[in-house]
Amino acid sequence: MAVIQINGGRVLNGELSVSGAKNAVLPILVASLLTDQTLQLRNVPHLQDVTTTMSLLAQLGAEISMDDGMAINISSANLNSYAASYELVRTMRASILVLGPLLARCGRAEVSLPGGCAIGARPVDLHLRGMQALGAEVEVKNGYIHARAERLRGAHIIMDTVTVTGTENIMMAATLAQGTTIIENAAQEPEVVDLAECLNAMGAQISGAGTDTITIAGVSALGGAVHTVLPDRIETGTYLVAAAMTGGFIKLRNARANTLDAVLQKLVETGAEIHTGADWISLDMHGRRPRAVDITTAPFPGFPTDMQAQFTALNAIAEGTSVISERVFENRFMHVLELQRLGANIQLRGGNAIVKGVEKLSGAPIMATDLRASASLVLAGLVAEGQTRVDRVYHIDRGYENIEEKLSALGADIRRVTLPRNAPAKVAAA
Ligand code: UD1
Repeated sequence: MAVIQINGGRVLNGELSVSGAKNAVLPILVASLLTDQTLQLRNVPHLQDVTTTMSLLAQLGAEISMDDGMAINISSANLNSYAASYELVRTMRASILVLGPLLARCGRAEVSLPGGCAIGARPVDLHLRGMQALGAEVEVKNGYIHARAERLRGAHIIMDTVTVTGTENIMMAATLAQGTTIIENAAQEPEVVDLAECLNAMGAQISGAGTDTITIAGVSALGGAVHTVLPDRIETGTYLVAAAMTGGFIKLRNARANTLDAVLQKLVETGAEIHTGADWISLDMHGRRPRAVDITTAPFPGFPTDMQAQFTALNAIAEGTSVISERVFENRFMHVLELQRLGANIQLRGGNAIVKGVEKLSGAPIMATDLRASASLVLAGLVAEGQTRVDRVYHIDRGYENIEEKLSALGADIRRVTLPRNAPAKVAAA
């Protein structure tokens, strides 16, 4: 059993390079299903979700090879299946992204329904309605989505809710449809733009990505391409918050400030001094304690729900009281109970968390519940007095590349330890 062990109280200082974006690389890997030519991807992060996606593609018949550790080549020339099994989909909801590409390329897809999720119901109804609008017959039976279409047809689709993977799924399917598709109320996330850029490099005709209306003129085939994945804005934001919470300084290379405006604005409100360049961001807290900031999550360009847990941790030790309103996912406050175990003063009221900043947190064994929640627990451990042990770190490995190495490089006392099963809750410093 691997755990992350942190002895809190160190001020973070230094430079880091940000990895490729998880939420961009997953749909882009899947986009390789749309062509029989090779797609070469650079800046692919080493993450569990990337490994899971590659396993899924391999099960469908894709061939994947590495180029000197620098690039990944994927060839879907010889697909031999159109089915994504429950075993894989249940470990990663983003597996639903294969639905559109398989349908467009093979005329058929069978994808398991993702099922329950720690951060709320997260239905896929809008993905299914999008495929139906493109002319597919869709049936849900025995826990699987069964979809069929001779050739998809362009359609005018108005999304009920802004959905990131829903927009991506429909956009990918529409690239090979007959005629033009217009997606209104589309997600505007930078990862949607990165996917559109990759698809266009493969020969798709997509315009408007990054706005709320995306137009896709269908083409008869897509080809190969070389694409460099966008830097991860959530990883970037997480390390900025880590530096802010410890009163330190950080410079992040391979970071894109224009994908993080809402987060940077909030960090400035906490008292951080921020500077940005074309591919870097620096934050200096000058040893100060952060001031509390109110947060309301919203689709891009609003404040990202994937940064909510980290700002809850920041507010837990900030000066003042804040209100955190979660508007994208119900039930995304699992981290609050764990932060309370470290001494945080947080009350949950409906979709809001009221956080009264305390002077100090104190270390304790705590448990990661989902990806971003677990990052917030690590951040809290960095400032808690004594030792914090974060259990179930596989959640962190889904989305953060070498988090303990990167934080150690900044001066944190953090390590991954493999404990025997049923190890006692309190662990002496190794
Ligand atoms: C993506 C991100 C995830 C992020 C989320 C919101 C990936 C791989 N994951 O998840 O990290 O937290 O965007 O920024 O990119 N909804 C429906 N019906 C649907 C689809 C969604 O009602 O068919 C609702 C969801 O329940 C939620 C809202 O739409 O309330 C937004 O979810 P969505 O944008 O779809 O999240 P994901 O794409 O799953």
